Amino acid sequence: ISRFKMTALLSLLLGAGPLLLLALNPVHGSDNATLPLVLWHGMGDSCCNPLSMGSIKKMIEETIPGIDVLSLMIGKTVSQDTENGFFMDVNEQVSMVCSQLAQDPKLKDGYNAMGFSQGGQFLRAVAQRCPSPPMKTLISVGGQQQGVYGLPKCPGESSHICDWIRKELNAGAYTDIVQKHLVQAQYWHDPLNDDLYKKHSLFLADINQERVVNETYKKNLQLLDKFVMVKFLQDSVVDPADTEWFGFLKTGQAKETETLQESVLYKEDRLGLAAMDAAGKLDFLGTEGDHLQFTREWFNAKLVPYLR
Ligand SMILES: *[C@@H]1O[C@H](CO)[C@@H](O)[C@H](O)[C@H]1NC(C)=O
Ligand SMILES: *[C@@H]1O[C@H](CO)[C@@H](O)[C@H](O)[C@H]1NC(C)=O
Repeated sequence: ISRFKMTALLSLLLGAGPLLLLALNPVHGSDNATLPLVLWHGMGDSCCNPLSMGSIKKMIEETIPGIDVLSLMIGKTVSQDTENGFFMDVNEQVSMVCSQLAQDPKLKDGYNAMGFSQGGQFLRAVAQRCPSPPMKTLISVGGQQQGVYGLPKCPGESSHICDWIRKELNAGAYTDIVQKHLVQAQYWHDPLNDDLYKKHSLFLADINQERVVNETYKKNLQLLDKFVMVKFLQDSVVDPADTEWFGFLKTGQAKETETLQESVLYKEDRLGLAAMDAAGKLDFLGTEGDHLQFTREWFNAKLVPYLR
């Protein structure tokens, strides 16, 4: 899920003043060039929207001179890319991205990845399924790592699509037809229908090892140097916001939440997250503000250091 109306964000980003970091942090020498960065946009957004991903790409390029930033386009055109964020089977999207990354000569020595909103969980699937080229650091910015149970607010201009999506989800998120064709159904996590979720969720239940423990996923995820999760502390778009730190509602009810560390996933270490935590590979960042609302200063201070 991504907030489509990024105008407010943009004005924050642009209004934030000059980049002092440039003077303080010279670029690395040529033998140790900065790793390329792959971005995956959120719902309702596209690779190249000048008001959102386009401006973020530009901002990163200005802050880290010489960095290669690839903002993923899912499909052949920008409008297909936006549509696919709602309607294209996520497993297919992930495999398209995997082959795109594998064919990119710039990425062969490794890359960092930053996913915005649903792009955060999609890139984790890339890390788990496609270890080559190697992803080094994964940053999930407001990603729904344990899915969502609710679509409380819809991104501005696509609100009619969202009203429709909400109806479909309520009617039967775990029916095959909805699973296959609705992206948000594929990370719909209904704590009151845990059996249905585990059995029928085509994407999330698979990458979160709900049915079986796929040792390959576990091994691949642990190849990351860092997995950074950013949570927006006043998030009114993602429900529950705890999912941004890999927490979720406790099974069987829809009120109380549990943290990642309290979950079965972690206690049984089904995905390697407990091992990564013990190795200091998990960073949980919180920032004031609603979904995807951050300032350029915050971005430069908290996220840019992972990219140098
Ligand atoms: C280049 O990176 C490697 C591996 O991270 C490190 O061991 C080495 O010291 C770096 N060299 C320079 C010149 O920074
Ligand atoms: C585990 O994941 C790998 C990589 O995606 C896949 O090839 C394999 O079929 C999966 N195994 C199971 C049991 O799901």
